Amino acid sequence: MIKIIQPVFGDEEKKAVSQIIESGQITRGEWTETFQQEFASYIGVERCYTVCSGTTALFIALRALGVDKGDRVVVPAMSFMATIDAVYLACGEPVVIDVDDYYTMDLNQLEDAVKKYSPKVVVPVHLYGGMADMEGIMYLSEKYGFYVVEDSAQAHGAVLNGKKAGAWGHVGAFSFYASKNVPMGEGGALTINDPEIAKKVKDLIDFGNSPAFNVRITEFQAAIGTLQLRRLEKNNRRRREIAKKYNEGFKEVAIIPPVREGSIHVYHLYTLRHPERDMIIQHLRDSGIDARVYYSYLLHEIRECDHLPTNTAERFREEVFSIPVHPALTDEEIDYVRERVLEVISSGKITT
Ligand SMILES: Cc1ncc(COP(=O)(O)O)c(C=O)c1O
Repeated sequence: MIKIIQPVFGDEEKKAVSQIIESGQITRGEWTETFQQEFASYIGVERCYTVCSGTTALFIALRALGVDKGDRVVVPAMSFMATIDAVYLACGEPVVIDVDDYYTMDLNQLEDAVKKYSPKVVVPVHLYGGMADMEGIMYLSEKYGFYVVEDSAQAHGAVLNGKKAGAWGHVGAFSFYASKNVPMGEGGALTINDPEIAKKVKDLIDFGNSPAFNVRITEFQAAIGTLQLRRLEKNNRRRREIAKKYNEGFKEVAIIPPVREGSIHVYHLYTLRHPERDMIIQHLRDSGIDARVYYSYLLHEIRECDHLPTNTAERFREEVFSIPVHPALTDEEIDYVRERVLEVISSGKITT
Protein backbone atom coordinates (compact mmCIF):
# COMPACT_ATOMS: atom_id res chain seq x y z
CA MET A 1 0.00 0.00 0.00
CA ILE A 2 1.33 3.48 -0.85
CA LYS A 3 0.65 5.26 2.41
CA ILE A 4 -1.26 8.55 2.60
CA ILE A 5 1.21 9.79 5.19
CA GLN A 6 4.72 8.61 6.04
CA PRO A 7 7.25 10.31 8.30
CA VAL A 8 10.89 9.84 7.30
CA PHE A 9 13.61 9.54 9.93
CA GLY A 10 17.36 9.27 9.38
CA ASP A 11 20.53 8.35 11.22
CA GLU A 12 20.64 11.79 12.86
CA GLU A 13 17.42 11.07 14.74
CA LYS A 14 18.70 7.64 15.85
CA LYS A 15 21.95 9.20 17.06
CA ALA A 16 20.17 11.98 18.94
CA VAL A 17 17.79 9.55 20.65
CA SER A 18 20.62 7.31 21.84
CA GLN A 19 22.64 10.33 23.02
CA ILE A 20 19.65 11.49 25.07
CA ILE A 21 19.40 8.04 26.68
CA GLU A 22 23.11 8.07 27.49
CA SER A 23 22.96 11.60 28.92
CA GLY A 24 20.08 10.78 31.29
CA GLN A 25 18.53 14.20 30.55
CA ILE A 26 15.32 12.91 29.03
CA THR A 27 13.03 15.87 29.64
CA ARG A 28 13.29 19.68 29.73
CA GLY A 29 16.81 19.88 28.41
CA GLU A 30 18.78 21.50 25.64
CA TRP A 31 16.83 19.94 22.78
CA THR A 32 13.56 21.46 24.03
CA GLU A 33 15.24 24.89 24.34
CA THR A 34 16.78 24.53 20.88
CA PHE A 35 13.49 23.51 19.31
CA GLN A 36 11.62 26.44 20.86
CA GLN A 37 14.24 28.92 19.69
CA GLU A 38 14.58 27.50 16.19
CA PHE A 39 10.82 27.18 15.69
CA ALA A 40 10.15 30.76 16.87
CA SER A 41 12.83 32.08 14.57
CA TYR A 42 11.61 29.93 11.63
CA ILE A 43 8.00 31.11 12.03
CA GLY A 44 9.15 34.68 12.65
CA VAL A 45 7.77 35.30 16.15
CA GLU A 46 9.29 36.30 19.48
CA ARG A 47 8.47 33.12 21.39
CA CYS A 48 7.54 29.47 21.00
CA TYR A 49 6.34 27.21 23.82
CA THR A 50 6.13 23.49 23.23
CA VAL A 51 3.22 21.46 24.62
CA CYS A 52 2.18 17.82 24.30
CA SER A 53 -0.26 18.12 21.35
CA GLY A 54 -1.92 20.47 18.91
CA THR A 55 -5.22 20.10 20.78
CA THR A 56 -3.46 21.23 23.96
CA ALA A 57 -1.89 24.18 22.10
CA LEU A 58 -5.36 25.33 20.97
CA PHE A 59 -6.83 24.80 24.45
CA ILE A 60 -4.01 26.69 26.21
CA ALA A 61 -4.22 29.51 23.65
CA LEU A 62 -7.96 29.94 24.22
CA ARG A 63 -7.61 29.88 28.02
CA ALA A 64 -4.69 32.33 27.92
CA LEU A 65 -6.81 34.72 25.85
CA GLY A 66 -9.46 34.58 28.56
CA VAL A 67 -12.02 32.21 27.03
CA ASP A 68 -14.33 31.04 29.79
CA LYS A 69 -17.89 29.90 30.34
CA GLY A 70 -20.15 31.05 27.52
CA ASP A 71 -17.54 33.00 25.52
CA ARG A 72 -18.09 32.65 21.80
CA VAL A 73 -15.36 31.27 19.57
CA VAL A 74 -15.78 31.17 15.77
CA VAL A 75 -14.39 28.17 13.86
CA PRO A 76 -14.74 27.08 10.20
CA ALA A 77 -16.96 24.11 9.26
CA MET A 78 -14.11 22.13 7.69
CA SER A 79 -11.35 20.96 10.02
CA PHE A 80 -10.23 18.10 12.23
CA MET A 81 -12.51 17.80 15.27
CA ALA A 82 -9.79 19.00 17.69
CA THR A 83 -10.42 22.57 16.46
CA ILE A 84 -13.91 22.59 17.95
CA ASP A 85 -13.15 20.26 20.86
CA ALA A 86 -10.53 22.70 22.17
CA VAL A 87 -13.26 25.35 22.38
CA TYR A 88 -15.47 23.09 24.51
CA LEU A 89 -12.53 22.06 26.70
CA ALA A 90 -11.83 25.77 27.32
CA CYS A 91 -15.54 26.13 28.31
CA GLY A 92 -16.25 28.34 25.29
CA GLU A 93 -19.25 28.16 22.98
CA PRO A 94 -18.32 27.50 19.35
CA VAL A 95 -19.98 29.15 16.38
CA VAL A 96 -19.33 27.35 13.09
CA ILE A 97 -19.19 29.27 9.81
CA ASP A 98 -18.76 28.35 6.16
CA VAL A 99 -15.54 28.02 4.16
CA ASP A 100 -14.44 29.90 1.04
CA ASP A 101 -13.11 28.40 -2.19
CA TYR A 102 -9.78 27.70 -0.47
CA TYR A 103 -11.31 25.40 2.21
CA THR A 104 -10.68 28.09 4.83
CA MET A 105 -12.84 30.44 6.89
CA ASP A 106 -15.19 32.58 4.75
CA LEU A 107 -14.44 36.24 5.39
CA ASN A 108 -17.92 37.62 4.61
CA GLN A 109 -19.56 35.14 6.92
CA LEU A 110 -16.98 35.87 9.58
CA GLU A 111 -18.10 39.49 9.63
CA ASP A 112 -21.77 38.37 9.91
CA ALA A 113 -20.89 35.99 12.75
CA VAL A 114 -18.89 38.67 14.57
CA LYS A 115 -21.80 41.12 14.37
CA LYS A 116 -24.24 38.49 15.62
CA TYR A 117 -22.16 36.75 18.31
CA SER A 118 -19.37 39.18 19.39
CA PRO A 119 -16.82 36.36 19.74
CA LYS A 120 -13.85 36.64 22.05
CA VAL A 121 -11.68 34.56 19.72
CA VAL A 122 -11.72 33.50 16.06
CA VAL A 123 -9.84 30.35 15.01
CA PRO A 124 -9.00 30.21 11.28
CA VAL A 125 -7.60 26.87 10.12
CA HIS A 126 -4.98 26.66 7.36
CA LEU A 127 -6.53 23.46 6.06
CA TYR A 128 -4.45 20.94 4.05
CA GLY A 129 -1.47 23.35 4.21
CA GLY A 130 -3.13 26.30 2.43
CA MET A 131 -3.33 29.72 4.04
CA ALA A 132 -6.59 31.24 5.27
CA ASP A 133 -7.26 34.87 4.34
CA MET A 134 -5.21 36.26 7.22
CA GLU A 135 -5.06 39.82 5.83
CA GLY A 136 -8.84 39.99 5.92
CA ILE A 137 -9.21 38.20 9.24
CA MET A 138 -6.66 40.47 10.99
CA TYR A 139 -8.40 43.52 9.51
CA LEU A 140 -11.70 42.36 11.06
CA SER A 141 -9.89 41.55 14.32
CA GLU A 142 -8.72 45.19 14.54
CA LYS A 143 -12.12 46.51 13.52
CA TYR A 144 -14.19 44.44 15.98
CA GLY A 145 -11.66 43.65 18.71
CA PHE A 146 -11.51 39.86 18.79
CA TYR A 147 -8.43 37.69 19.25
CA VAL A 148 -7.17 35.36 16.54
CA VAL A 149 -5.69 31.90 17.16
CA GLU A 150 -4.37 30.38 13.96
CA ASP A 151 -4.85 26.63 13.85
CA SER A 152 -1.62 25.93 11.97
CA ALA A 153 -1.55 22.18 12.69
CA GLN A 154 -1.42 21.44 8.94
CA ALA A 155 0.59 24.45 7.78
CA HIS A 156 4.22 24.37 9.00
CA GLY A 157 6.03 26.74 6.68
CA ALA A 158 3.00 27.98 4.72
CA VAL A 159 3.30 31.67 3.83
CA LEU A 160 0.94 34.51 2.92
CA ASN A 161 2.36 37.81 1.68
CA GLY A 162 5.76 37.04 3.15
CA LYS A 163 4.49 36.09 6.63
CA LYS A 164 4.25 32.50 7.85
CA ALA A 165 1.25 30.66 9.27
CA GLY A 166 1.44 31.08 13.04
CA ALA A 167 2.89 34.62 12.83
CA TRP A 168 -0.32 36.43 11.83
CA GLY A 169 -2.66 35.90 14.77
CA HIS A 170 -2.32 36.69 18.48
CA VAL A 171 -1.32 33.04 18.91
CA GLY A 172 -0.33 30.30 16.45
CA ALA A 173 -1.15 26.72 17.45
CA PHE A 174 0.83 23.86 15.91
CA SER A 175 0.70 20.06 16.06
CA PHE A 176 3.68 17.76 15.66
CA TYR A 177 1.62 14.56 15.50
CA ALA A 178 3.26 11.73 13.53
CA SER A 179 1.53 12.68 10.27
CA LYS A 180 2.40 16.37 10.26
CA ASN A 181 4.97 18.18 8.10
CA VAL A 182 7.13 18.40 11.25
CA PRO A 183 6.51 15.09 13.06
CA MET A 184 7.61 14.41 16.65
CA GLY A 185 5.29 11.46 17.30
CA GLU A 186 3.12 13.63 19.51
CA GLY A 187 3.64 17.29 20.33
CA GLY A 188 2.43 20.83 19.84
CA ALA A 189 3.52 24.44 20.17
CA LEU A 190 2.22 27.97 20.63
CA THR A 191 3.85 30.83 18.72
CA ILE A 192 3.41 34.30 20.20
CA ASN A 193 4.68 37.86 19.87
CA ASP A 194 2.78 39.67 22.66
CA PRO A 195 4.65 39.41 26.02
CA GLU A 196 1.44 39.61 28.09
CA ILE A 197 -0.19 36.73 26.24
CA ALA A 198 3.10 34.84 26.51
CA LYS A 199 3.08 35.31 30.28
CA LYS A 200 -0.47 33.96 30.55
CA VAL A 201 0.53 30.94 28.48
CA LYS A 202 3.57 30.34 30.67
CA ASP A 203 1.45 30.56 33.82
CA LEU A 204 -0.75 27.78 32.43
CA ILE A 205 2.09 25.48 31.43
CA ASP A 206 4.80 26.13 34.06
CA PHE A 207 4.30 25.06 37.65
CA GLY A 208 4.78 27.84 40.19
CA ASN A 209 2.79 31.04 39.83
CA SER A 210 -0.68 29.55 39.46
CA PRO A 211 -2.37 26.16 38.96
CA ALA A 212 -0.78 24.71 35.83
CA PHE A 213 -0.99 21.71 33.53
CA ASN A 214 1.88 19.34 32.87
CA VAL A 215 1.93 19.46 29.07
CA ARG A 216 5.66 19.02 28.55
CA ILE A 217 7.31 17.13 25.73
CA THR A 218 10.34 14.91 26.28
CA GLU A 219 13.82 15.50 24.90
CA PHE A 220 13.21 12.63 22.45
CA GLN A 221 10.32 14.51 20.86
CA ALA A 222 12.20 17.82 20.87
CA ALA A 223 15.27 16.26 19.21
CA ILE A 224 13.22 14.57 16.50
CA GLY A 225 11.22 17.78 15.99
CA THR A 226 14.38 19.90 15.71
CA LEU A 227 15.98 17.60 13.15
CA GLN A 228 12.72 17.40 11.18
CA LEU A 229 12.34 21.20 11.32
CA ARG A 230 15.79 21.59 9.77
CA ARG A 231 14.55 19.49 6.81
CA LEU A 232 11.15 21.16 6.56
CA GLU A 233 11.92 23.60 3.73
CA LYS A 234 13.41 20.81 1.62
CA ASN A 235 10.48 18.49 2.36
CA ASN A 236 7.92 21.20 1.63
CA ARG A 237 9.65 21.91 -1.69
CA ARG A 238 9.36 18.22 -2.56
CA ARG A 239 5.65 18.26 -1.61
CA ARG A 240 5.14 21.23 -3.96
CA GLU A 241 7.03 19.44 -6.73
CA ILE A 242 4.75 16.40 -6.37
CA ALA A 243 1.66 18.64 -6.24
CA LYS A 244 2.79 20.33 -9.48
CA LYS A 245 3.05 16.95 -11.24
CA TYR A 246 -0.38 15.98 -9.97
CA ASN A 247 -1.87 19.37 -10.93
CA GLU A 248 -0.63 19.01 -14.50
CA GLY A 249 -2.28 15.61 -14.74
CA PHE A 250 -5.56 16.42 -13.03
CA LYS A 251 -6.37 20.01 -13.93
CA GLU A 252 -8.74 19.02 -16.76
CA VAL A 253 -10.54 16.24 -14.89
CA ALA A 254 -10.94 17.32 -11.27
CA ILE A 255 -10.76 20.41 -9.07
CA ILE A 256 -7.10 20.70 -8.10
CA PRO A 257 -6.02 22.30 -4.78
CA PRO A 258 -6.59 26.07 -4.98
CA VAL A 259 -3.69 28.29 -3.88
CA ARG A 260 -4.52 31.74 -2.52
CA GLU A 261 -2.83 34.64 -4.35
CA GLY A 262 0.36 35.71 -2.60
CA SER A 263 0.63 32.45 -0.67
CA ILE A 264 2.86 29.39 -0.57
CA HIS A 265 1.04 26.07 0.01
CA VAL A 266 2.79 23.29 1.93
CA TYR A 267 0.53 20.40 0.85
CA HIS A 268 0.19 18.68 4.20
CA LEU A 269 -2.51 16.92 2.19
CA TYR A 270 -3.08 16.96 -1.56
CA THR A 271 -6.84 17.22 -1.83
CA LEU A 272 -8.84 16.99 -5.04
CA ARG A 273 -12.56 17.43 -5.61
CA HIS A 274 -14.66 15.23 -7.84
CA PRO A 275 -18.38 14.35 -7.72
CA GLU A 276 -17.56 10.63 -8.00
CA ARG A 277 -14.90 10.61 -5.34
CA ASP A 278 -16.13 7.41 -3.60
CA MET A 279 -15.60 5.39 -6.76
CA ILE A 280 -12.18 6.99 -7.29
CA ILE A 281 -11.15 6.16 -3.71
CA GLN A 282 -12.30 2.57 -4.15
CA HIS A 283 -10.28 2.19 -7.35
CA LEU A 284 -7.19 3.69 -5.72
CA ARG A 285 -7.48 1.43 -2.70
CA ASP A 286 -7.93 -1.60 -4.96
CA SER A 287 -4.72 -0.47 -6.70
CA GLY A 288 -2.78 -0.31 -3.42
CA ILE A 289 -2.99 3.45 -2.88
CA ASP A 290 -4.24 4.84 0.41
CA ALA A 291 -6.70 7.60 -0.55
CA ARG A 292 -8.91 9.15 2.11
CA VAL A 293 -11.51 11.79 2.88
CA TYR A 294 -10.40 14.65 5.14
CA TYR A 295 -12.96 15.15 6.59
CA SER A 296 -16.22 13.30 6.14
CA TYR A 297 -17.90 15.49 8.78
CA LEU A 298 -18.46 19.20 9.33
CA LEU A 299 -17.69 20.49 12.81
CA HIS A 300 -21.26 21.50 13.73
CA GLU A 301 -22.50 18.04 12.70
CA ILE A 302 -20.33 16.21 15.20
CA ARG A 303 -20.73 18.69 18.09
CA GLU A 304 -23.99 20.45 18.72
CA CYS A 305 -23.58 24.23 18.44
CA ASP A 306 -24.72 27.41 16.70
CA HIS A 307 -23.77 27.81 13.07
CA LEU A 308 -24.41 29.98 10.05
CA PRO A 309 -25.41 28.42 6.70
CA THR A 310 -22.60 26.16 5.48
CA ASN A 311 -23.62 25.54 1.85
CA THR A 312 -20.09 25.57 0.45
CA ALA A 313 -18.67 23.23 3.07
CA GLU A 314 -21.62 20.85 2.61
CA ARG A 315 -20.89 20.64 -1.11
CA PHE A 316 -17.12 20.28 -0.68
CA ARG A 317 -17.48 17.63 2.02
CA GLU A 318 -19.20 15.35 -0.54
CA GLU A 319 -16.41 15.75 -3.12
CA VAL A 320 -13.03 16.06 -1.38
CA PHE A 321 -10.49 13.25 -1.30
CA SER A 322 -6.77 13.21 -0.61
CA ILE A 323 -3.98 11.19 -2.22
CA PRO A 324 -0.39 10.59 -1.03
CA VAL A 325 1.91 13.64 -1.37
CA HIS A 326 4.55 13.01 1.31
CA PRO A 327 8.27 13.44 0.52
CA ALA A 328 8.98 9.71 0.92
CA LEU A 329 7.19 8.99 -2.39
CA THR A 330 9.43 7.87 -5.24
CA ASP A 331 9.01 9.26 -8.77
CA GLU A 332 7.65 5.85 -9.83
CA GLU A 333 5.05 5.95 -7.06
CA ILE A 334 4.00 9.48 -8.03
CA ASP A 335 3.53 8.38 -11.66
CA TYR A 336 1.67 5.28 -10.51
CA VAL A 337 -0.74 7.34 -8.35
CA ARG A 338 -1.26 9.83 -11.18
CA GLU A 339 -2.01 7.11 -13.71
CA ARG A 340 -4.43 5.27 -11.43
CA VAL A 341 -6.39 8.49 -10.77
CA LEU A 342 -6.52 9.39 -14.48
CA GLU A 343 -7.45 5.86 -15.43
CA VAL A 344 -10.50 5.73 -13.16
CA ILE A 345 -11.70 9.22 -14.05
CA SER A 346 -11.40 8.60 -17.79
CA SER A 347 -12.70 5.02 -17.61
CA GLY A 348 -16.15 6.08 -18.75
CA LYS A 349 -17.58 4.64 -15.53
CA ILE A 350 -17.84 8.13 -14.10
CA THR A 351 -18.55 11.59 -15.44
CA THR A 352 -17.30 14.94 -14.19
C1 LIG B 1 -6.41 21.18 11.86
C2 LIG B 1 -5.98 20.44 13.09
N1 LIG B 1 -6.17 21.02 14.30
C3 LIG B 1 -5.79 20.42 15.44
C4 LIG B 1 -5.18 19.18 15.44
C5 LIG B 1 -4.84 18.54 16.73
O1 LIG B 1 -3.51 18.20 16.88
P1 LIG B 1 -3.07 16.96 17.80
O2 LIG B 1 -3.50 15.71 17.10
O3 LIG B 1 -1.59 17.09 17.91
O4 LIG B 1 -3.75 17.12 19.12
C6 LIG B 1 -4.92 18.56 14.21
C7 LIG B 1 -4.20 17.29 14.11
O5 LIG B 1 -4.44 16.22 14.22
C8 LIG B 1 -5.36 19.19 13.00
O6 LIG B 1 -5.16 18.61 11.82
